[in-house]
Amino acid sequence: VTSPKRPSVIWLSGQQCTGCVESLLRTGHPTLETLILDLISLEYSETLNAGAGHQAEAHLAKAIEENKGKFILVVDGSIPVKDGGVYCMIGGRPVVDILKEMAPLAAAVIAIGSCAAWGGVPSADPNPTGATPVYEILKPQNIPVVNIPGCPPNPYNFLSTVIHFLTFGKLPALDDKGRPMFAYSRIIHENCERRPHFDAGRFAEEFGDAGHRQGYCLYKLGCKGPETYNNCSSLDYNDTPGCWPVATGAPCFGCSEEKVGFHVPLFTKA
Ligand code: SF4
Ligand code: SF4
Ligand code: F3S
Repeated sequence: VTSPKRPSVIWLSGQQCTGCVESLLRTGHPTLETLILDLISLEYSETLNAGAGHQAEAHLAKAIEENKGKFILVVDGSIPVKDGGVYCMIGGRPVVDILKEMAPLAAAVIAIGSCAAWGGVPSADPNPTGATPVYEILKPQNIPVVNIPGCPPNPYNFLSTVIHFLTFGKLPALDDKGRPMFAYSRIIHENCERRPHFDAGRFAEEFGDAGHRQGYCLYKLGCKGPETYNNCSSLDYNDTPGCWPVATGAPCFGCSEEKVGFHVPLFTKA
């Protein structure tokens, strides 16, 4: 029995911390092994490659050649452009050059994580390497980019986007920042389990106080849930109930927004 060829996915890494991949490794439906062994053909990923060095690069070139116009290109990490892009090299070449060359050959480009989507941590002031979001690198080539922001994003936001593409042959509906609407069209505040406390005016005033311990709203501790578009409050991480920042007592700092940070300085009273 021959099975249909699985769609090819190529995963390119720029300036990243591996957190986005680590998060993806912990998914349960489908598990990552089901995804990469049964549903897609993961041709290249620095973190998950079986091979290394010349062997991996040779397979990458072959996979691109054989899947022109059909593969999904996933990028994690920001792309440094300063000094010719020397601050992130793969196989002796700047990742910025590799991205510009590879993206026009892909069926879709997905930027996973806030580094890839917005520049993220590597682009923090004074941005010494010229860390740049993927969509800005590809703008001159008119190549659209799906953004799955978050640090890391909930892996199901990424997986659902990939599975949607594989199932329907097209990407899910996106907002004006390239984010899938199914995950990023609502603010965290709308579905937050601490919301009844917000509405009733019950706030944690400092970390560890009685209100904090009783699950009161974290707004006065800087929570940015009222202005952060993400689905953390309705989709737990790692299939674990209560596994998202606010549930654990940590105010949201808008890790999926272009401008991250608490709305009041951390560890001070509002
Ligand atoms: Fe790491 Fe966050 Fe960047 Fe992902 S978005 S690579 S988790 S710093
Ligand atoms: Fe909104 Fe944050 Fe309070 Fe939740 S903890 S209700 S997201 S302000
Ligand atoms: Fe990030 Fe806030 Fe969700 S910090 S993980 S967007 S709760």
